[in-house]
Amino acid sequence: MTRVVPVELSDRTYDVVVGEGARHELARIVAETVPTAKRAVVVTQEGIVVEVDPGIPVEVVTVPDGESAKSLSQVEELCRRFARSGLSRADVVVAVGGGVVTDLAGFAAASFHRGTAYVNVATSLLAQVDAAIGGKTGVNIPEGKNLVGAFWQPRAVLCDTEVLATLPPREWASGRGEVAKYALLGIGTPYGDAPTSDLALDEQVTRCAAIKAAVVSADEREGDRRMLLNYGHTLAHALEASTFGDDGSGLRHGEAVAVGLVFAALLARRLGRIDDARVDHHRRVVGGYDLATALPVSADAEQLLSFMYRDKKAQGDLTFVLDGASGVEVVHGVDRADVVATLADMESSRSGNPQ
Ligand code: GLY
Repeated sequence: MTRVVPVELSDRTYDVVVGEGARHELARIVAETVPTAKRAVVVTQEGIVVEVDPGIPVEVVTVPDGESAKSLSQVEELCRRFARSGLSRADVVVAVGGGVVTDLAGFAAASFHRGTAYVNVATSLLAQVDAAIGGKTGVNIPEGKNLVGAFWQPRAVLCDTEVLATLPPREWASGRGEVAKYALLGIGTPYGDAPTSDLALDEQVTRCAAIKAAVVSADEREGDRRMLLNYGHTLAHALEASTFGDDGSGLRHGEAVAVGLVFAALLARRLGRIDDARVDHHRRVVGGYDLATALPVSADAEQLLSFMYRDKKAQGDLTFVLDGASGVEVVHGVDRADVVATLADMESSRSGNPQ
């Protein structure tokens, strides 16, 4: 059985369909949301074995494995394939994969004919709870991740929890890091309170999707509220950038977020915003998702700081999403010394010293 979570965006409102077998609803969804479509191009990635049927003639295009597929040259390659397959602006692109595929195919769809409809079939936990929902599309350039992109909302997102059974363990862990973030954000929706690790998977994905949908509906273009979705991400992005993510420390995105969530709690405590009990709550929630919270051994504080100053939320200063008496909020102008001291706390706890 599937459940539907709407992302309310006036005339661009769309459904996130969550549950086992959701991928089998693709033909109906395409017929309902892109009734003009006479053909589809499915964009997927090497190694993804999820087959879908959009119910209209389809060509399948496979992009290379890994984050390196998120490049401008792949956007060109995809748009050329769309053109050669005869895709018109009335047709539809279907992205089948994790965040790499939904970001890349979504951006190619945003660019092709200055905007072609697309539907996401999210096949990783990370994409189901975050990347595939909300219309952030884009690619990387050597100067930074996601620096080129567009807000372009899909016509629907299908989150088929059945396909998650074959996810490699590290991809699971990465998705759980984002679920832990939702668990700590303190945002409830008509679909229930925050997810907890004891709930059934479908219920957790539904609650995360509902929180994401509510935040995106309130602030599609990340003017303010959507920045809350970056909880734990300032340090996480710095860790990924400074260690080259998967190729360096080996941290997947959500694994880095898990470290970043505990760091954000420790920083909030240092700033007097929360107490020890709240820090313990963060540790328990992240631990409940079976995620490590130690800084990687190779982490270099100076290098991390230089990346944190470049964070997209920052305004030439150090900016974090931090917990506090009024809940989680964006805090600008955090003192460098407090960040350095919090990183040092984490380093000493890694080596077993008391904090
Ligand atoms: N992944 C954060 C956002 O979609 O805003």
